[in-house]
Amino acid sequence: MEKEEFDKYVKAGKIAQEIKKFALEIVKPEMKLINIAEAIDAKIFELGGKPAFPLNLSLNECAAHFTPARGDEIIATGILKIDIGVAVDGFIADTALSIDLTEDKRFSEMMELNEQILADVTKVVKHGMEVKDVGNAAAISFEQWNKTHDSNFSIIKGLCGHSLAEYNIHAGLTISNYENGNTKKLDEMAFAIEPFVTTGDGDIYEGQPGGIYVLQNEGNVRDRDARKILEYIKETYSTLPFCSRWLDKEGFKKIRFSLSMMEKAGIIYQYPMLMEKSRAPVSQFENTFVIFDGKVANTTKVE
Ligand code: CO
Repeated sequence: MEKEEFDKYVKAGKIAQEIKKFALEIVKPEMKLINIAEAIDAKIFELGGKPAFPLNLSLNECAAHFTPARGDEIIATGILKIDIGVAVDGFIADTALSIDLTEDKRFSEMMELNEQILADVTKVVKHGMEVKDVGNAAAISFEQWNKTHDSNFSIIKGLCGHSLAEYNIHAGLTISNYENGNTKKLDEMAFAIEPFVTTGDGDIYEGQPGGIYVLQNEGNVRDRDARKILEYIKETYSTLPFCSRWLDKEGFKKIRFSLSMMEKAGIIYQYPMLMEKSRAPVSQFENTFVIFDGKVANTTKVE
């Protein structure tokens, strides 16, 4: 990795830190998710970054992959996971936090455990370590908590951390949050670690589409408006995911129609929401790490 690339990862991380602080300031119970998303989108640009993917605003048993569209009436209640992606010239910071919106703060223990797991894993991350040791550290941290607190939380095994690369959110390496046998090494690279905790069984299924799209296949559309949108998507987002509210901001016409046509034609893919099977609430905390010059930088940890 060049020093210049590392500096861009660090810059993206700094912006992501600011965004987390901003989110904690602005998010209030019963606020519309679309208003949260538009405020954060604008703040990322204001700070000199670009969204690396649409802001995930996932509520309660939805663990990930929901982003609001203009006109959505959904409001923030229960537990909200905010998963933020910031890119600086394609170099990505990927970070997430959870906010307990209940009056009696009933998710505080789950969130505390979740932060503890991430903190314990952070302590062991170092250059050259085997990927399995991240999962082992997470498992020890989590089992210890359940034992000492006589609690019954589950870690979600179906959701994992991942390597990052230029304009690439999942660069091939999977970093599990449970005991595993992955002997691949964490070399000079960028990656995200993201444990998810739940009071349920911890199994995940794919639910309804969640408003996050990505270009999937070559293809053309006949409709004039749809063609303009497709060209814009190719030029602007390329391999990175996008969402309809960003197209709204550009003033395109017939966005819903065009996206659904392109989706049916297999040109774009819409990610399903990832749901906890027993419909139990889920929390998430995530940070991005960059190994450079033998040292580990936790780029998104709020200083
Ligand atoms: Co991630």
